[in-house]
Formats: sequence, structure tokens, C-alpha cells
Amino acid sequence: MAKYKIAWLPGDGIGVDVMDAAKIVLDKLHFDAEYIHGDIGWEFWSKEGNPLPDRTVTLLKNTDCALFGAITSLPKQEAEAALVPALQGKGLVYASPIVRMRQEFDLRTNLRPCKAYPGNPLNYKEGIDIVVFRENTEDLYSGVEFFPLPDEVRSVITKHNKKMARFDKHPADEIAISLRINTKTGCRNIITDAFEFAKKTGRKSVTVVEKPNVIRETSGLMVRTAREVAKKYPDIQLWETNIDAMCMWLVKNPNDYSVLVTSNMFGDIISDLAAQLVGGLGFASSGNIGDNYAVFEPTHGSAPKYAGQNKVNPIATFLSAVLMLDWLGETSMATRLENAIAAVIKEGKVRTYDMGGKSTTTDVANAVASKL
Ligand code: NAI
Ligand code: MG
Repeated sequence: MAKYKIAWLPGDGIGVDVMDAAKIVLDKLHFDAEYIHGDIGWEFWSKEGNPLPDRTVTLLKNTDCALFGAITSLPKQEAEAALVPALQGKGLVYASPIVRMRQEFDLRTNLRPCKAYPGNPLNYKEGIDIVVFRENTEDLYSGVEFFPLPDEVRSVITKHNKKMARFDKHPADEIAISLRINTKTGCRNIITDAFEFAKKTGRKSVTVVEKPNVIRETSGLMVRTAREVAKKYPDIQLWETNIDAMCMWLVKNPNDYSVLVTSNMFGDIISDLAAQLVGGLGFASSGNIGDNYAVFEPTHGSAPKYAGQNKVNPIATFLSAVLMLDWLGETSMATRLENAIAAVIKEGKVRTYDMGGKSTTTDVANAVASKL
């Protein structure tokens, strides 16, 4: 029996291309795993009305972790129109399988490393090495939203906060509310993860990125909690910045920053910015990590226009596999894979189109495999 069971979730579009490539490097690494295919994505929404079928949820429950490619998702009306006729008009609503996995498996930490590997022509500056810790299940992504606004909700809010009266003149179907919900536990967990990582990897600072001067309660809770947690790590500095200023600082002085920690929405934004500093979607890996399960994925989507063309950059997926190996405790294998990826980038001979080359997805996989 293999040492690990991995849920293998290629998904849609280029998700399939990059996962095929990942298989080549993992096999060359002799990673002792059984890969079990799971159905996920647009095809299953169209045919079954569920992009994350129950059998896939069961599969996840019976595996150590998942490696996931990408999925296609479209807005509400387009999603409804894509259903097979038998499922139309039944009130089915498309729910993002990624958001569902994060919530159902409490994958509370989103880990997004952004490292400028030497030789990558897309690096904005050399030496960037930023790791973003994004809270993954709360905040504006809690899914607690109202439209049209029920009268009871409006009156309860008005009762507790006079500022709501300013919106009295707007009728229920012209006002939308999405709640930003953050808990002390959620804040403490993500901040602790960031500090623990900094300690383990010898990093000197953790920067909490929020906006407590304006969003006093939720951002305030994050920053106050960060100050509390930081006391346990006297060797690591806590820096506090506002999300808007941080976007400027990251473009101006990206080398000043090491570990960033933030809430879900701000983390979504800042991690894309940080990823672009080191080559963009072809290099942006991520882990969705909980106490008992984790899903690793490149952060790009299904890029339909390149689907099945063996053209896109699989490095983001390889780097996600590095995170997976690390999380499983296979740290020497993780290091070997990362070094092989770094060597191929440094050599600069095998490059996909985004790096200005003509190599295929498989060429990159074979080049990395040859370094192992
Ligand atoms: P996308 O990430 O799929 O692609 C945007 C563009 O980035 C592509 O056209 C391509 O030029 C480039 N790109 C993406 N991955 C690349 C790679 N590995 N190598 C080289 N170039 C790459 O985003 P888009 O076009 O906004 O969304 C397409 C679909 O993917 C949508 O249905 C969207 O909802 C979904 N999506 C899914 C995500 C996921 O599965 N985690 C994340 C983001 C979008
Ligand atoms: Mg995003």
C-alpha cells in the first residue's frame, strides 16, 4: 500500500494540463502515493447541478490531502443557462467548489509564497521572498449577504447603529449588504500560523495588513489580536500597515517585507499583487490548510482559451506540490523538487510562452524531472 492517498482534482481547462505535468515530476520524485481522481468543476455543474459532487467530498474525507488544478466558474445567470435542460428552472444556484471545500473542511489558512527565483525574466525585482498568510473562511467571504434587504434586518441594524439611518431612503431592492464577519479565533489562528512560520524559517518580521483606522471593529480585532500573539515571539517584529498603503509599499520596496498576514478579502488582493511581482499566475502557488486536511492548488483559473493546448506554465502547480510535500512532512522531497524547479528557471532554456519561450507544459515537466 502506498504511504499517502492523494485526492487528484484536475478540474477544468488548463487544470488538466498542469496536473498531467505535475504527475510527471511527482513520479520522478518517487513520491509514494496513490492518486485518486475526483470529479470537480463545470462539467458536473452542467450535468448534475453540483460542481463538487458528494462522492468527491467523500473522497476528500478518505485521503490525506488534495492537489487541485483549476475550475471554471461563471456568474449566476450564465451558470443557470449552462445546466442540462432537465435541471433548469429548479432553483439550483452555483456555489464555488473552492469556497465550499474551504468551509466544509475548515481550511482556515491560505498560504501563498511569492519568491523571485533567480533567472525568471518576469521578476519585478530580484530577491523578493514574501509569504502571505490569508485567513480563508471568514470576513467578506462568510457568505452572509442580503439582497433585497429584509425589513427585519434593516431595523435591527438601525436599532444598534444609528449610522444605518442614512440609508433609509433606499428601497430594499436598491440596497445590498455583505457582512464582514471576523472572529477572535479566526484572527488568532491565522496570526499564530504566520508567526510560527516566521519562527520556523528564521524570518525577522511579520506584517499585519488591515485598515483599523476606518474599519474599526473587524480590522481592529485583527490588529489587537496580532499585538497579543506577537508578545509570544519576542525575536520577531510585528509591523502594522494599511492595505492601501501596503499596495504602494509592495510595488516600491518589495524586498522590505517577509511574512504578511491579513484577513480574507485583503489577502485575496494583496496575494495577487505579490504574485505578480514574481512572475504572475504561472508562478503563484497556494495551500488551503486546516487542522486535518489541506488542498494545494495553483491560484490561476482554468484559462479556457489555452485548455488542452499543452501551452501554459505548470510551475505554479509544481510549487503547490512543494507545499503539499512540505505539509505532509516530506521536507527533503519538497526541497529537492523546489531546487529542481529553481534550476530549470535559472538555466532559462525551457520556458513557456508567459516567460517569452516556446516550450510546452510537458517540456517544463520533463526539464524539472531531469533535474531530480
Ligand atoms: P485565469 O487564471 O484562468 O486566466 C487568466 C489569464 O492568465 C489566461 O488567459 C492566461 O493568459 C494567464 N494564465 C493563467 N494561468 C496561466 C499559466 N499557468 N501559465 C501561463 N499563463 C497563465 O483567469 P480568468 O480568465 O479570469 O478565469 C477563467 C476561469 O477560471 C473563470 O471561469 C474563472 O471563474 C475561473 N477561475 C478559477 C480559479 C480556480 O480554480 N482557483 C481561480 C481564478 C479563476
Ligand atoms: Mg484570487
